[in-house]
Amino acid sequence: TAPAAEAAKPESKGNDKLVVGFAQIGQESGWRDAETASIQFYAGQNLDTIDLKFADAQQKQENQIKAIKSFIDMGVDVIGLAPVVETGWDAVFTEAKDAGIPIVLVDRKADVDESLYETFIGSDFIEEGKNAAIEMSNLLGGEGKIVELEGTVGASAANDRKKGFDDEIAANHTGIEILESQTGDFTRAKGKEVMESFLKTYGDQIKGVYAHNDDMMLGAIEAIKEAGFKPGVDIKTVSVDGVKGLFEAMAAGEANVTVECNPLLGEQFFTTCMKLKNGEPVEKWVKSDEGIYRQDTAAADLPNRKY
Ligand code: AHR
Repeated sequence: TAPAAEAAKPESKGNDKLVVGFAQIGQESGWRDAETASIQFYAGQNLDTIDLKFADAQQKQENQIKAIKSFIDMGVDVIGLAPVVETGWDAVFTEAKDAGIPIVLVDRKADVDESLYETFIGSDFIEEGKNAAIEMSNLLGGEGKIVELEGTVGASAANDRKKGFDDEIAANHTGIEILESQTGDFTRAKGKEVMESFLKTYGDQIKGVYAHNDDMMLGAIEAIKEAGFKPGVDIKTVSVDGVKGLFEAMAAGEANVTVECNPLLGEQFFTTCMKLKNGEPVEKWVKSDEGIYRQDTAAADLPNRKY
């Protein structure tokens, strides 16, 4: 780190601890809560070596930018960010770089020049979308009409899960037709609301629903039941995350598949931050391991789920 940048770090000056600012998206889903808990738990277990400054942006990019600016003013060692959307980060990332503070992207990507962040820790969302498409096609025997609940508009998790799914359907499962695709903003309430409107428009034409996260699917399952259909039977379900609630739905026969996305990134995150503080090299993408979970093993899997 350049001496000028070091001088601009009041928080870490004379502080042996690793000082980390983390700008979280918000609390839109069970998955997000699990990620926050993982980060806060790890910091809480290591209070003698880690000083975590945590900001909840309530799903607004402007709040995340404000948090990053305040972390820069504090002079933290590393800034962690789960970017709510992909674009619009160049200016604030450049400010951090000029202050000599490395940025670590956690779980979602940002569409910026690679020189503006040190590493991305998280999943391959395109692969998740591709796997979801294969699962849906298998459930429908390669043919059927479906609807799609997208995540937050502009989020990498939504953009890539859609791209992976669409590309796989177009290449290998042309009997699957997407009737309509709309955002449910990654929340259970909006997932339910959008599914209600899909059901009003398309009724029993709908044979499957693909949701970019489990929370939206749990909302959709409520809507399907209220409309008099059997989720998991009349309407097959494939979603992403692997939260306990979805395993419970699968064990009850009301959901079919969840493609796992790991939110338990706390340890990896702080290990990476420590390496950066010590000037050690880090990989540009630290990929998460992901599984695919289906109804037939859900009851047995449930006790082992950690989030
Ligand atoms: O970025 C990961 C996504 O964000 C999760 O799938 C979703 O549940 C969360 O809100």
